[in-house]
Amino acid sequence: MRVWQTNSFEDVVLTRGSACTVWDERGKPYLDLLAGCWCAVLGHGHPRLVDAVQAQAARLIHAGPPFLADEIHCALAQLAEILPRELERVVFLNTGSEAVELALKMARAATGANGIAVVERSFYGDTTYALSLSEAGRNVRWLPPLGSTIRIPAPDCRNCPASTRWPCQGFPCLARLRELIEKQDHSVAAIIFEPVLANAGIIVPPPGYSACLRDLAAQLGALFIAEEVTTGMGRTGRWFAFERDGAVPDILVIGKALGGGLPVAAVATTAEVESRCGGHLEHMQSHQNDPFSGRIATTVIATLQDEGLVQRAAESGDYLRSRLKGLQSRMTCISDVRGQGLMVGIELDRDYSPKGVEIARRLLDAGFIVNYQPHNAAFRLFPPYVITRPEIDAFVEALAAILSGLV
Ligand SMILES: Cc1ncc(COP(=O)(O)O)c(C=O)c1O
Repeated sequence: MRVWQTNSFEDVVLTRGSACTVWDERGKPYLDLLAGCWCAVLGHGHPRLVDAVQAQAARLIHAGPPFLADEIHCALAQLAEILPRELERVVFLNTGSEAVELALKMARAATGANGIAVVERSFYGDTTYALSLSEAGRNVRWLPPLGSTIRIPAPDCRNCPASTRWPCQGFPCLARLRELIEKQDHSVAAIIFEPVLANAGIIVPPPGYSACLRDLAAQLGALFIAEEVTTGMGRTGRWFAFERDGAVPDILVIGKALGGGLPVAAVATTAEVESRCGGHLEHMQSHQNDPFSGRIATTVIATLQDEGLVQRAAESGDYLRSRLKGLQSRMTCISDVRGQGLMVGIELDRDYSPKGVEIARRLLDAGFIVNYQPHNAAFRLFPPYVITRPEIDAFVEALAAILSGLV
């Protein structure tokens, strides 16, 4: 028997981790610049998280959906410290995809509309509906469109979809939504949007874009969903990326970092959305609002707060990008360095992009774990927030050496 290879595997077997380092079975260390799948934001083996996991495993891991344990009330109180006051109704789940599904269900139940507007080149998860809305799902033979989907071009100003230059006047890339407003179309339940586009090779939308989307959603009678599975919980150097534009969403989707490496996700919304759903929304999953998830979420948030890690993500991200921009100024093979906080993209010049996979391979051999997206010609980095300057320096130097040898 073997695992069905539904995704690609590296031929490295990881056996343990501490802070930003993981070791393979031969004892070789690797700097984990991805925090696993962008999740282990406190680093690997953080003593506070390890203690919480052990204590909660001994106390009560699972209670079943009808029973709300103290740990969930504690997690709500902790979340309330970092969320806007309006977002006062929360459901805890396990994965980002599940949380996206619930957010979409909420929007449809609250508005009675069916359509979902999505930003192209995004990824919303691998469950069937989330995948059908995602870039990755568009050409999947067995996945027919599930409901009406309105696709908006990605706000990629370097390659403006409306062929204008930044600063543009009023975001012409959003013309499709304006047309719907003019037609007084009320078939859209929600606009779902990642405030920094992880899947598109880390695209940071221009200032004001999220706020504009939020206004357009309101004019359409639709809800605005901030999909912060990747960007949330400090990743961009703010607790939530929507804060940059002050565009408080009607529904917020949180995942990845909330569990610090364990599967914890959440959907937060307003009392108004809850009351608009009336009795029309049922949702019950085996691990919904588990005490274990509550304890983990509380511990992760408290640790981020106590150790000032969101601020550190902002500062370390600035430092990492400034070092990479230094490299870009010396090496023509790098065409762009971008991102926010510790969500960083390095784009290769088109002529060199076929070499990206080989560069990532060589980085792995040299002990650095990164992600390369061939279709965006971009390396993506999502390190734990505890990454140190010497670790950043070591990575930039290794990248420089590999690039000089290859290009
Ligand atoms: C932006 C975004 N949304 C949703 C998901 C799905 O989250 P999960 O893998 O926890 O289901 C991901 C996963 O990478 C993601 O990056």
